[in-house]
Amino acid sequence: MNDDAGIESVLREDRVFPPPAGFSESVGGAWIASMADYESRYRRSIDDPESFWGEAAREYRWMKPFTTVLEWNCPDARWFADGTLNLCDNCVDRHVDEGHGDDTAIIWEGEPVGADGPEVLRLSYRDLQRETAKFGNALKALGVGKGDIVTIYMGMVPEVAIAMLACARIGAAHSVIFGGFSASAIVDRVNDADSKVILTCDGAWRRGSVVPLKANVDEACAKLPDVEHVVMLERCGNDVELTEGRDHDWATLVSTQSEDCPCEEMAAEDLLFLLYTSGSTGKPKGIVHTTAGYLVHAALTAKNTFNLRPGRDHVYWCTADVGWITGHSYILYGILPNRVPCLMYEGAPNAPDEARFWDIVERHRVTHFYTAPTAIRAFMKWGDAHPAKHDLSSLKVLGTVGEPINPEAWIWYHEVIGGERCPIVDTWWQTETGGHMITPQPAATPTVPGSCTLPALGIDAAIVDDDGNELPNGRGGLLVIRKPWPSMLRGIHGDRDRYVETYWSRVEGMYTAGDAANRDDRGYFWIMGRIDDVINVSGHRLGTMEVESALVSHPDVVEAAVVGFPHEIKGTGIAAFVTLASGVEAHDELKSTLRAHTGHEIGAIAKPDMIRFTNALPKTRSGKIMRRLLRDIAAGRDSDQDTTTLEDLSVLAKLRDDED
Ligand code: WT7
Repeated sequence: MNDDAGIESVLREDRVFPPPAGFSESVGGAWIASMADYESRYRRSIDDPESFWGEAAREYRWMKPFTTVLEWNCPDARWFADGTLNLCDNCVDRHVDEGHGDDTAIIWEGEPVGADGPEVLRLSYRDLQRETAKFGNALKALGVGKGDIVTIYMGMVPEVAIAMLACARIGAAHSVIFGGFSASAIVDRVNDADSKVILTCDGAWRRGSVVPLKANVDEACAKLPDVEHVVMLERCGNDVELTEGRDHDWATLVSTQSEDCPCEEMAAEDLLFLLYTSGSTGKPKGIVHTTAGYLVHAALTAKNTFNLRPGRDHVYWCTADVGWITGHSYILYGILPNRVPCLMYEGAPNAPDEARFWDIVERHRVTHFYTAPTAIRAFMKWGDAHPAKHDLSSLKVLGTVGEPINPEAWIWYHEVIGGERCPIVDTWWQTETGGHMITPQPAATPTVPGSCTLPALGIDAAIVDDDGNELPNGRGGLLVIRKPWPSMLRGIHGDRDRYVETYWSRVEGMYTAGDAANRDDRGYFWIMGRIDDVINVSGHRLGTMEVESALVSHPDVVEAAVVGFPHEIKGTGIAAFVTLASGVEAHDELKSTLRAHTGHEIGAIAKPDMIRFTNALPKTRSGKIMRRLLRDIAAGRDSDQDTTTLEDLSVLAKLRDDED
């Protein structure tokens, strides 16, 4: 296990926060009104899952209704398999047809702040219908059809939402790559998905500077002979090169398209998207999500976890990038079906200053705010003066996701941002699960800082030993899901064996999440950390092997071992222990070079926070790297005191041999 610290302390937390008085009224009525309500519905959902999920699925618009709910042949699930529908139809067209075409679907705010304030755009469902139809036709004009996989590498502009929905509209799948990833990361993912079309922007605004997205795509395309089309949206006006015959200007391409593009009829189990995430090997895995089941759980959890209600002046804002699953499920696909306006912000939380988020909350009267613990810790550090300058009284529900939240950050969020008035939903889930798995219900669940509390409706989460026996409360073990759920991954693209091996081989018949967890006396879940070689840096999942491969691809490096260490803001920082090629001298400049090299190989999020040169990596007699020893060393040192001296860790290794 990566991190076994804190197991003792978490179970000692005894502050309990019942849902604030008046909360239900303030959101226009609660979907899950009390613990008794939650418990009886949860029981029913587990005892009779087919009737529970069947009913949930009938809330959406089907082209042909399903007659079977689940076909389960572990580890293969088919949900609502004989039904047909379209996800874009459920996010967009349905609302237009039901008389809500002029309601606001997306409120977008750009990062740059001019003399008249920031640029703000409002898109109604009718606007989205028109734009997804035109862009759908543009994709068709490039030869994209049902089943093709379109790669999207864009900033947080309205067009990225339009592009994703347009793919769903015409039955193409998308693979969104976070704009922070590098050209080599694009190459791997485009090859794996066999994408022929890439959608991008000239650049993306990030804290006043431009991330050169198009230049990264160009660099990638030099190694991607099969890419036929690149469509580029002009956003930043930075210098770009257009390659004749391959590249298309977004606006020009769209301008001639018809507004008539009916939503394609899709089978429930048709591929909706791939989303790459890190695992314990160096190669990222393309997580497969399909149409109906994903919609059902993403939309149902969005509704319950945030208590979203249309027509009640809700303004929901999730600060994630659409390049992550949080953006897929809780900016677009789970939120739009609930017909609540969704805010999308383009840039950084500290542009032009550290009060930007609170300025946005005030100006747009944001009611629901969903962010990551790493951001909350940064806000705390920046100081209370920033939120204090703004009126945050519109806020009603606060959410957190991506990593365990430390109780200090939780309390700060509750007091300073929520004014002690807003329930906090700490949502545990994963790219693979598609939607929330363990989370409080805001009007029902008493919350405890640091715990994600109890399973969502229909989710059979448990803590077990390797034989699948459920452990008593207070005993840490493997976090598993014992029953299939609609938005579960259907596989890893092109790698059946890895799918079975990673998720279904550790405990017979159960989905292994890769996290260790514990339950307290109340039965509340506490996430303790990953059990594989995955680290969670600022809420982003990274495989230590990916970073190691990036480091050893540098000619000066012979061997590298990467571990996580506690980091004040990031939660986990990246420490790299590196042995150098003979004749290469260890010096600070080489550290900067290696950091830059890792950034170039993967992306800025993978740059080590600490690099230590060593003569040899400490290994056990059987040749395994002693990661626990390295974690201890990394945790005991401040990165500032980081020395360049080559050290001999083999001595320490001898003292600790066989321990790892
Ligand atoms: C891993 C999944 C799901 C959206 C963002 C991350 C960790 C996620 C929590 C939470 C403690 C959490 C787990 C999980 N994680 N949410 N509320 N409390 N840990 O998605 O990149 O697929 O990472 O993030 O370790 O396995 P992801």
